[in-house]
Amino acid sequence: MKRTIFTLGAVVALSQALAVAPALAQTPIIIKFSHVVSPDAPKGKAAVFFKELAEKYTAGKVKVEVYPNSSLYKDKEELEALQLGSVQLLAPSISKFGPLGIKEFDVFDLPFLMTDDARARQMMASPMMVDLNKKLEGKGVSPLAYWDNGAHVYTSNKPLIRPEDFRGLKMRIQGSKVLDAVARELGAIPQIMAFSELYQALQTGVVDGEDNVPSNILTQRFYEVQKYLTVSYHGRLTYALVTNKKFWDGLPADVRAPLDRAVKESTEFFNATAAKDNDDALEKIKASGKIQVHLLTDDEKKAWVAKLMPVHKEMQSRFGKDFIEKIYKASGFIPPQS
Ligand code: LMR
Repeated sequence: MKRTIFTLGAVVALSQALAVAPALAQTPIIIKFSHVVSPDAPKGKAAVFFKELAEKYTAGKVKVEVYPNSSLYKDKEELEALQLGSVQLLAPSISKFGPLGIKEFDVFDLPFLMTDDARARQMMASPMMVDLNKKLEGKGVSPLAYWDNGAHVYTSNKPLIRPEDFRGLKMRIQGSKVLDAVARELGAIPQIMAFSELYQALQTGVVDGEDNVPSNILTQRFYEVQKYLTVSYHGRLTYALVTNKKFWDGLPADVRAPLDRAVKESTEFFNATAAKDNDDALEKIKASGKIQVHLLTDDEKKAWVAKLMPVHKEMQSRFGKDFIEKIYKASGFIPPQS
């Protein structure tokens, strides 16, 4: 029995290695960078920035092909394709890592956990991430950087001012179990859906609402098919720039070093661009006059936090109390006294 398992494991490893080999054998080395957002969103811009730097710094030894807007793969497929070596770079939201068999990344979706941009960034670059990064590597996926794209707002076809307003609404969520628990706690009906399907689902009423960052709401034109937007900043959108581990480890040193430099500088570019892009996007959405924008007052926000604290409690059994407390410490979150 043991022998059979070993043999199967070896076959999988061999087929993955063979899938990675062609990308490395080509001259120039082709890096396919697939993502799900618009070329005008912060991730779309950073992908093109990375392409320009990577091609320049490797003096043509590498060619980067960027595929925006899910034109190559959708959310779930892209991670499978990366593991198989059919694509070399992605920057998915870390709320989508559950299907890889890694549940820990969902913890960052605990409501109102991270409100401070600088702190959120520090946290993702801190030694606390070492264990989580190892878990990704164990799945053949190497994290190269984290890109923090700021805080989420809600859109809906009903005003969302009080937690009760969510009752009975079908809300699109990313795959995270914490996001599922948040929607349920609010009395909504969560529906996991690929980002590429969201515009149509909102337009046709398959779902009533969703949460996202303003730059996605603008560039995917969700604001044209939703009536209300609530600036709630209840969660965050963090991307992991990930590659196929075998591919990256197999790169020749004279290619790997300039690519590492391109990753570092693209991360700086992303960090310098995202916050401003999201602020500008919110202003443009308001100026469009197509959607009514409400900024939660302090009292309204307090009511949301109180309503959602049971999710923090419920998730202790999933992640362990100690792990959650470690995350609180790193994020600066202080649970309100109940
Ligand atoms: C979403 O799926 O809502 C977003 O995370 C898409 C993205 O990658 O920004």
